[in-house]
Amino acid sequence: MSGHEFQSWFPDSGSVDMSDTSTNIDETTIEELRQIAARYPQARSALLPMLHLVQSVDGRVSPAGIEACAAVLGITTAQVSGVATFYTMYKRRPAGKHHVGVCTTALCAVMGGDILMDVVEEKLGIGEGETTADGTFSLERLECNAACDFAPVMMVNWEFMDNMTPQKATDLLDALAAGERVQSTRGAELVGWRQTERVLAGFPDGRADEGPTAGAESKLGLGIAREQGWKAPAAPAPAASGPSEEEAK
Ligand code: FES
Repeated sequence: MSGHEFQSWFPDSGSVDMSDTSTNIDETTIEELRQIAARYPQARSALLPMLHLVQSVDGRVSPAGIEACAAVLGITTAQVSGVATFYTMYKRRPAGKHHVGVCTTALCAVMGGDILMDVVEEKLGIGEGETTADGTFSLERLECNAACDFAPVMMVNWEFMDNMTPQKATDLLDALAAGERVQSTRGAELVGWRQTERVLAGFPDGRADEGPTAGAESKLGLGIAREQGWKAPAAPAPAASGPSEEEAK
């Protein structure tokens, strides 16, 4: 390992797997990484979408992807690794074709999130942070998805699956395993995780407006406010610019 590579102080939390040097990154990928970098006034700001592109190509944050991002941005591989290992959306081992998340934070747990996690683990035969041997599914335990009004919530490839039950979870996994078309409850049709990663990198697939996005539960308060005639208080007048009275003397 060279002196520029990032080493975690918490090795059990998992660092980028430097022993797996396989990669699909080619000249086309490098050109697309440059395109992303060129979208930002400061190229370094492009690192997050660039890492999503790496995941779309390699199925994880690969050593080659880290080096490519560093070379395009003119920063060190340690700086890239430090970002890639900070955020949970960046995977250090290959994710499955469908990346499944189960929320087990407080509200979802109260509504059955832990039971869902048990059902999914048993159904897929894998635990948290693992990928099935055939590469079809990977599994993650999620912190609150900010979708508590639809608890318990799962997600597949970052799309919401709301108001889940053990039976719905089982049916969902069966449908995905069979290659059937599955619609997110508040988003686009579920395609592969890598395709979704490409969208997050800033290469739209034209499906962003599929689905209702905001569900009725999320808009309940808005409806009540309209019924009651409630309005937001007027914004305070902006402070006058220019010198204060004191300064003007
Ligand atoms: S606790 Fe699961 S979405 Fe908030």
